[in-house]
Amino acid sequence: MKHIEQQELAINSPESYWQEQSELVAWYKKPQTILSKNTDSWHDWFADGELNSCYLALDYHIEQGRGADTALIYDSPVTGQKQKFTYLELTSLVAKFADVLRSQHVTKGDRVLIYMPMIPQAAIAMLACARLGAIHSVVFGGFAANELAVRINDAEPKVIVGASCGVEIAKVIPYKPLIDDAIEIATHKPNNCIIFQREEVEAQLVPGRDLDWQEQMDIAIEIPPVPVKSTDPLYILYTSGTTGKPKGVVRDNGGHAVAMQYSMKNIYGMKKGDTFWAASDVGWVVGHSYIIYGTLMAGCTTIVYEGKPIRTPDAGAFWRVCAEYKVNALFSAPTAFRAIGKEDPEGDLLKEYDLSSLKRLFLAGERLDPATYHWLKEKTQLPVIDHWWQTETGWAIASTPLDDGNGNIVATKAGSAGFPIAGFDVQILDGDGQQVPAGQQGSVAIKLPLPPGCLATIYQDPERLVSGYLSNHPGYYTSGDGGYIDEDGYLFIMGRIDDVINVAGHRLSTGEMEEVLSGHPAVAECAVVGINDALKGQVPLGLVVIKNGITASDEELISELKQSIRDDIGAIASLKKLLIIDRLPKTRSGKILRKTLRQMIDGQEIEIPSTIEDTQVITELSGALVGINKG
Ligand code: COA
Ligand code: AMP
Repeated sequence: MKHIEQQELAINSPESYWQEQSELVAWYKKPQTILSKNTDSWHDWFADGELNSCYLALDYHIEQGRGADTALIYDSPVTGQKQKFTYLELTSLVAKFADVLRSQHVTKGDRVLIYMPMIPQAAIAMLACARLGAIHSVVFGGFAANELAVRINDAEPKVIVGASCGVEIAKVIPYKPLIDDAIEIATHKPNNCIIFQREEVEAQLVPGRDLDWQEQMDIAIEIPPVPVKSTDPLYILYTSGTTGKPKGVVRDNGGHAVAMQYSMKNIYGMKKGDTFWAASDVGWVVGHSYIIYGTLMAGCTTIVYEGKPIRTPDAGAFWRVCAEYKVNALFSAPTAFRAIGKEDPEGDLLKEYDLSSLKRLFLAGERLDPATYHWLKEKTQLPVIDHWWQTETGWAIASTPLDDGNGNIVATKAGSAGFPIAGFDVQILDGDGQQVPAGQQGSVAIKLPLPPGCLATIYQDPERLVSGYLSNHPGYYTSGDGGYIDEDGYLFIMGRIDDVINVAGHRLSTGEMEEVLSGHPAVAECAVVGINDALKGQVPLGLVVIKNGITASDEELISELKQSIRDDIGAIASLKKLLIIDRLPKTRSGKILRKTLRQMIDGQEIEIPSTIEDTQVITELSGALVGINKG
């Protein structure tokens, strides 16, 4: 069927469309109620269905006679390790780790926080939670102790599962001290920590609280999956919002399972036995959906890759993995390919590998810039598909269909994320909530209801779902992105229209960085804006006004402020550029003119708002800001 016809069906008759798609899932109890309201403004999918997400990802395939097939490949160029797990082997480990958690009194609905690098144990811990009906919350390893503490306080986990260390290029990062510090800072204290000891670093275990992963696994038994309701939460994943407090996006079990199966088939064109590689991290939504759940639920082989696109050992790393494991589709972030293209511009390393199994490349996390799109297409001669999504949706809102319904390829357009996926009624709205004509930019919104698999609520804060996403334009979900739809129906996502920035595919809040900078005793006020970066897409730039009477030198202050961002948020924030200035441009009511700052930095024509407090500040700043993102 043509994607436009699918879209019409899904939007005009969502219940019958998604009831049919729900047949892709092996429910314990098939849902009779497909779409129902849970509050005035929000909805549930498949409310009376029962299932278990771990069963669907593992045991189901064994029942289908595929136990000896490879479920997960671990490839770690940073440690030199490679390992394969069949569905039988992975299920056994997950079923035992579920028993380890159960022995620590983790039951359905309890939260378990997972802070681990890209090792198979991270996948095992996640799936073991799902097996028990416990709710996992994975925190990306690049976040510092303070960020971890914020998430511990919000999720209130009974248990934290960690590893002794992460391994980055040429450096080992001990994780356990970060976990200990986070527990110290947090007001909520977990009962236990279960720590996987890696060869590179042995973590100190706190007697009475910390348990050794392997010792516990040695005495565990395999336990079966626990049925849960479709609407029971599977996980909480924190993501940056416009304020300093991250949002705990809650994912349900039932809608998620349907969305995962649907997307693996219809967006990625994968079938059981295929190998799908999402070169991301389990700490991000891409990792949740397509390193773990979607890929395994679809009966494919997944790859847990502990390495980088470059320098592990070279810019051929991705092509090596694709050739070695006969990867059928690769999914990564544009920044990864910009890094590869910078080091291997002619694609010489790519030519060294047999990539005949690779059928398509999928890109997301940030806009695929036309230059990288053309480079990838030319060098790989493969379809290069940019697709747009968010932690909140859990799967792609837009992509280019695999074919036009008659077996013909649908052309991709440079710079576009393709067409809305069935069920996502994407519209471009102006400030008054009216649809704008084709080609005109506006706020990208999705008419309710959202299809299955999207956020169920914001953990501990359901009001934030309404204030953050639903109140701008009643009846719509506001994505926070700006963009347009062209005359041919292609969607272009041009960037965030709020205070969120995207650094190397990592979503970060400038508001949160401002909170950290303002916490320094010498800082009177500050602003953080995202500026263009050739490799990472965007990087933050900090502008700081120092209090009178501070004796420390500018150099000392800049170095302290940069360090405070690393300590409080983490190295991934990459705040490398920081300027001390005399004053910031503001409105008369005291609002910092961030848009004006961005325009000045990017050398664009500056729209000076009529509400500006004093236009002189623009002249003062322009010399300091022009050219800042070039060096
Ligand atoms: N644990 C601990 N520290 C981490 C980390 C982790 N999991 N991931 C990153 N860091 C640290 C890095 O070591 C680095 O620290 P440094 O400043 O002390 O050197 C810092 O965070 C920034 O890392 P990174 O963003 O990876 O930048 P980089 O310059 O080292 O590498 C790229 C650039 C483009 C190669 C890298 O950003 C990359 O691979 N990006 C792909 C991102 C991606 O897949 N995103 C998923 C979205 S789908
Ligand atoms: P995250 O929640 O971390 O996945 O980040 C989501 C945000 O990343 C979106 O709101 C967009 O701003 C950006 N993003 C993700 N994928 C794309 C894409 N294909 N094109 C443009 N922006 C994207």
